[in-house]
Amino acid sequence: MSVAAGPQEVRIVTRRYHEFPEDSWTLERVEADGGYEAARSAVRDMTPDEVLDTVKDSGLRGRGGAGFPTGVKWSFVPKDLFPKYIVVNHDEGEPGTFKDRELGERDPHQLIEGIIIAAWANQANRAFIYCRGEMALGARRMDTAIRDAYRKGYLGKGIFGSGFDLDVTLHRGAGAYICGEESALLDSLEGFRGQPRLKPPFPAVKGLYGQPTIINNTETLSTLPHIIRHGVEWFRRWGTEKSPGTKMISTSGHVVRPANYEVPLGTTLAELLELAGGMRDGGRVKAIIPGGASAPLLTSTEYRLDFESLQEAGTMLGSGAVVFMDESTCMVRNALVTNEFFEHESCGKCTPCREGTWWASKVLERIEHGEGRKEDMELLLDIANGIDGRAFCPLGDAASWALRSNVELFRDEFEQHVIDGRCPFEDEHLSFTGPRAAVPGPGDSGIAAQPHAGVDADLEGPDPREAGR
Ligand SMILES: Cc1cc2nc3c(=O)[nH]c(=O)nc-3n(C[C@H](O)[C@H](O)[C@H](O)COP(=O)(O)O)c2cc1C
Ligand code: SF4
Repeated sequence: MSVAAGPQEVRIVTRRYHEFPEDSWTLERVEADGGYEAARSAVRDMTPDEVLDTVKDSGLRGRGGAGFPTGVKWSFVPKDLFPKYIVVNHDEGEPGTFKDRELGERDPHQLIEGIIIAAWANQANRAFIYCRGEMALGARRMDTAIRDAYRKGYLGKGIFGSGFDLDVTLHRGAGAYICGEESALLDSLEGFRGQPRLKPPFPAVKGLYGQPTIINNTETLSTLPHIIRHGVEWFRRWGTEKSPGTKMISTSGHVVRPANYEVPLGTTLAELLELAGGMRDGGRVKAIIPGGASAPLLTSTEYRLDFESLQEAGTMLGSGAVVFMDESTCMVRNALVTNEFFEHESCGKCTPCREGTWWASKVLERIEHGEGRKEDMELLLDIANGIDGRAFCPLGDAASWALRSNVELFRDEFEQHVIDGRCPFEDEHLSFTGPRAAVPGPGDSGIAAQPHAGVDADLEGPDPREAGR
């Protein structure tokens, strides 16, 4: 018998689709695999408060970005106000993150089961899935899964033969990053332009249509059936005291095998890198984005992937998207491309974010194109300080953190651009974020064209991304 060496994944929310890649999204497969039993036993055998206490005791923290304890959030919902709503945040706009898309495409019934558990605990009779518009395959599979669940009496009137009703509606957004922010999401769902609302009141008290609303991320809800089925102690076997359980980490950049890896929270970046096959072409790690584009950079793989360790390191786990960059990466270009994302996605509601991100792009652009000035680094830090803590919502803060960390950690490289009057990486054409000149044609986005995957993909058969794993 051979014993696998090195770090291993612990597959909980990703188990079914790895074990049954041909049909993990079908009701037949899910039922044969014990699906919906946790939801059935929650609704039939547990009181809403028992479910809430179990989730609270599990220590489960939101997987959407902020890491807020799920059970604590649920306990803010006023008990005597009806109707209440559950809203699934399936927007997944954070650059580098591709885990919710995979869960929606490959195990939509697991998500529906999680929704039922959350709805029962919070006594909500109506749930909405807010799905990023571009996720065509996932939307089709979630739609089919909802219909199948209604057909079997898992959704609709008197679910599982109880007196509890639950309706689920799939809503497709138009693909704006800000619509992942919970209050902007609610505005968008109500049919308004997606812009953040002033908080408090928080959605748990006053959310969709002014009613108590629980907004949870897809991965958070997909974890619930396992906690209900196996219990708190089982769940706490993995992770740390403050960050229990496992987390899907979308791993990309200059690694051999970019993919989602489900690992216990507290796994080191070095272990994750090993799982991903190491750096491509024997490269060395230069910079790491540990939690999506909003997270300040790291330069070492010694850190642990959990909420508290990364906070201590001055960054964050965020949505769990790790991008490893090697030494061919131009950090000015990295800062520019990241900032351009925030500039483009700024909703325009407040001045520091709307103007600051636009201005920072102009300065970064001139440095990258060899026209930088020696005072530009201080100017960029000044712009970052002008946004941080002054923006209406966390998008502006995130833009300033990413900008600041690029300038502070790689100041020498920024200065080199100014001294040389050119980008020192220009001839390499290897940079992760890519030389803009590599994409021909006027008015191009500067981002190389991506293969058109997903939209027209075959609904049946194994997922081609499984190959080689
Ligand atoms: C600009 C911005 C974008 C966000 N995008 C997402 C997203 O795409 N998906 C998500 O689950 N949470 C996103 N969030 C976090 C949500 O506001 C919210 O905290 C989360 O959906 C709560 O779910 P959880 O407690 O299960 O993590 C975003 C936050 C901000 C500020
Ligand atoms: S910080 Fe940016 S995204 Fe947030 S409200 Fe202000 S302009 Fe809109």
